[in-house]
Amino acid sequence: MDIVTTPQLIAGNWKMNGLLAARGEIAALAAGLKGRARLPEVLVCPPATLLHGFSGAVAGTPIKLGGQTCHTAAAGAHTGDVSAEMLKDAGASYVIVGHSERRTDHNEANALVAAQARAAWRAGLSAIICIGESEAQRSAGQMEKTLADQIAYSVPSETTVANAAVAYEPIWAIGTGKTASLDDIEGAHAFIRARLEASLGPAGRSVRLLYGGSVKPSNAKEILSTRGVDGVLVGGASLKAADFLAIVDGARVAV
Ligand code: PGA
Repeated sequence: MDIVTTPQLIAGNWKMNGLLAARGEIAALAAGLKGRARLPEVLVCPPATLLHGFSGAVAGTPIKLGGQTCHTAAAGAHTGDVSAEMLKDAGASYVIVGHSERRTDHNEANALVAAQARAAWRAGLSAIICIGESEAQRSAGQMEKTLADQIAYSVPSETTVANAAVAYEPIWAIGTGKTASLDDIEGAHAFIRARLEASLGPAGRSVRLLYGGSVKPSNAKEILSTRGVDGVLVGGASLKAADFLAIVDGARVAV
């Protein structure tokens, strides 16, 4: 039996979805969590515009808030950008960095992702550092090389279990309804874990490794029970409190 030392992390990535009225979903999530005796760590990453508005709704609940990206600077002439300090000020304790949609849509490369993680730490946030191969890389036999490069260049050497989690999100499984098989997930996580240990030493053994890509209520429990999975990063199915609660219920909690 696995010994659970750090709680699993159930993180919701709302992406560019949600208006202030979605506070009702946060209230419903809080109400649903109330009756549960043992919980994993529960995190919601809404658009930055909603962090402040949600911070009242999560006060006194186990729900944590996070941002979805951050600039590397604390402040300055960077029109349209948001710093890690600003996310923290608005109520965040986490920030996602290196999501594949940021890497693709905004050309964010590994070195920038590492700098964003360090910016998160400067501001006192934990970073969720995303990695994952595309369908083309996978079919060209480049999956391991892609992951190894992403680990080498976007996961900083100062990464620890206290300041970060790494999320494995195969791009072909994001928003497609195509979940990686449990064998694929176990295999990829074992590979990533070995690389993290090689690059980070003992910290690489304990940093949480999340899976993301079409996680939903119907597959969350089996994914969260898979060897090497320390949590999930959930997109579409995190938007509705009822679905997200069902995913939280699939977590392994320490007894
Ligand atoms: P999905 O997104 O759950 O909608 O596939 C996951 C993610 O992009 O973090």
